[in-house]
Amino acid sequence: MKAWEIQGEGGIDALALTDRPSPEPGPGQVRVRMRANSINRRDLNTVLAPGARGLQFPRIPNSDGAGDVTAVGPGVSSVAVGDRVVGCFFQDWEAGEVSASKMASALGNPIDGTLAEEVVFNERGVVPIPETLDYEQAATLPCAALTAWHALVVKGGLKAGDTVLLLGTGGVSIFALQFCAMTGARAIVTSKSDAKLERARSLGAWATINYVDTPDWATAARELTGGHGVDHVVEVGGAGTLEQSIQAARHAGHVALIGVLTGGTVNPVQLALKSIRLNGIYVGSQAMFRDMNAAIAATAMAPVIDRRFDFADAPSAFRHMQTNDHFGKITITFPG
Ligand SMILES: NC(=O)c1ccc[n+]([C@@H]2O[C@H](COP(=O)([O-])OP(=O)(O)OC[C@H]3O[C@@H](n4cnc5c(N)ncnc54)[C@H](OP(=O)(O)O)[C@@H]3O)[C@@H](O)[C@H]2O)c1
Repeated sequence: MKAWEIQGEGGIDALALTDRPSPEPGPGQVRVRMRANSINRRDLNTVLAPGARGLQFPRIPNSDGAGDVTAVGPGVSSVAVGDRVVGCFFQDWEAGEVSASKMASALGNPIDGTLAEEVVFNERGVVPIPETLDYEQAATLPCAALTAWHALVVKGGLKAGDTVLLLGTGGVSIFALQFCAMTGARAIVTSKSDAKLERARSLGAWATINYVDTPDWATAARELTGGHGVDHVVEVGGAGTLEQSIQAARHAGHVALIGVLTGGTVNPVQLALKSIRLNGIYVGSQAMFRDMNAAIAATAMAPVIDRRFDFADAPSAFRHMQTNDHFGKITITFPG
């Protein structure tokens, strides 16, 4: 079977398409014939700087993939050959709180990922594809969607009428926007692009702010809430945006710290003075994934796919993410 490998430094151009033996599922494992992947910023960063992330070579990249079960190992009882499944980012985080050992089961690093024609997962490391979704839509869910769900619904207790500030229009933020629309929450979306903001409004954004034209976007967000401040911030920017996110939040508001798109330094004093609840979020568990999929199926929510690339052309998917021109998710389709 064919697999893309990170074999060393060298970035996207050094990704290698290789032949590997078809993997055999061991006890408690299942083999899945991949039909689609999606890529995340983490996958791109891993390809660009594997050494800095402690990657052991060779390593198959990507955490997100969906396909059909083609074999099950001894003792497997909840998954059968022919099931349509999507892999879980953490192969060993079934439920409860995260731990260091559960984090060590992340696909793409430190264990082999999903950019291969056949992938072996743990039985508890897959969930059924919601019946309303195709393989590509399902492949968008494991990292970006679950992170947004964990942040807003699980940790944030999102409810109708809440105000939510979303930074940019990448994978996590657009799923967060869709969960706001699903729940009846008011999403304020920021972007560098007016065209993307118009698209966000068509998906239900309550208000939009161009963060290039309005560098003090925190004040603009507060003004939209009558000076009160937003209930939640989905913080994907990191150090360069966190102070403004804290400024935009109401007293005792919730900031979900997710991303590291920007650098800088942070003065944390307003966290204390405003009694902000700051939650670090790292994707989510299989149990959260199942709950999210039930909500997606019940509301027929369709993930937003910006562009699809063929498996043979997978490096172009990473190059496309590097442009930051995308809106929502970028997927890779495997040959039928
Ligand atoms: N903790 C976790 O579990 C977890 C899970 C998933 C992702 N992440 C992290 O979260 C971040 C976002 O991931 P993603 O997959 O959504 O990335 P993505 O799809 O690549 O989104 C990137 C987008 O973020 C926006 N952006 C960039 N700089 C910005 C800034 N200074 N202010 C506001 N928006 C900015 C841009 O949107 P516009 O073009 O609209 O301006 C850009 O297109 C990354 O750092 C990623 O590693 C963490």
